[in-house]
Parts: sequence; structure tokens; C-alpha cells
Amino acid sequence: MRILVLNGPNLNMLGTREPHIYGATTLADIEAAMVAQAQHYNAEILFHQSNHEGTLIDLIQAHQTSIHAIIINPGALTHYSYALRDALSGVSVPIVEVHISNVYKREAFRHHSVIAPIATGQIAGLGWHGYVLALTWVCQAKVV
Ligand code: DQA
Repeated sequence: MRILVLNGPNLNMLGTREPHIYGATTLADIEAAMVAQAQHYNAEILFHQSNHEGTLIDLIQAHQTSIHAIIINPGALTHYSYALRDALSGVSVPIVEVHISNVYKREAFRHHSVIAPIATGQIAGLGWHGYVLALTWVCQAKVV
């Protein structure tokens, strides 16, 4: 099983970015935790981050025929990117939307996700653990 893990704008700054909201864990820490968890299920993780909407879309298009699921934290693109949504909705594999923070407890503009209606499910507010939980669901549900 191959799982594409995508992170959107500013998530490269995890660890130093608003740690009271996002914690001290870095994106490299998250990748390492996911790779370790994936080994239990003999799964392969393709892990990417980009600050650019088009790059994320290019990655989805490039990998869509060779992956079994997508786990994505779109960052602020969550709230307005119809282009990212369209790219994801064109893919036939399950999609899990992850947010480190509980977006529903924060500013009003974060309460709406344009991605959620085309995602299989969403995890928000569980910190970096949300990524590992999403991966665990993908592997345990064997959503191929
Ligand atoms: C986020 C929440 C978004 O509102 C924000 O723009 C992010 C991170 C999260 O993981 O909690 O960049 O997706």
C-alpha cells in the first residue's frame, strides 16, 4: 500500500510556528512517526510539503494512479482552494483531511473547509497524532 501525505502552506514551519497552537513537533518528526507506523502495516509513505497550491495539485496528479490513499493537511488552502478540491475530487482513492489544531474552536474563517465535502473523513484538534491516526485508519481499513 502506498499513501501520499501532503502538507500545504506554512506547515514546513511546524516546531517554531505558533507552538501554543501547533505544538513543538516538526514536520520531520511527523514524517518519522508516520514512517515508523507505516512499517507495522508494510505500507509506503510518500511525504511532501509545499507552500504552493499548484505544486500540491501537480503531486496529486502525478501520483493519483499509483497510490491507495491520500492524507492531506492543506493548511489555509483548506478554507478557499477550489483548485485543490477539484484535484482531490478527481482521485478515486480515500482522502483523509487532517488538521493539527481544532479549527472549529478558532477564528470563524477556519470553520469552513472546501475540502471536507469531498474527503472521506477528517481529523482535527488531535495535534500531530492526527496524522498517525489517519494512517492507522487507512491501513487498518485496508481502503484499497
Ligand atoms: C491547519 C489549520 C489551518 O486553518 C491553518 O491555516 C494551517 C494549519 C491545522 O493543521 O490546524 O495552516 O491546517
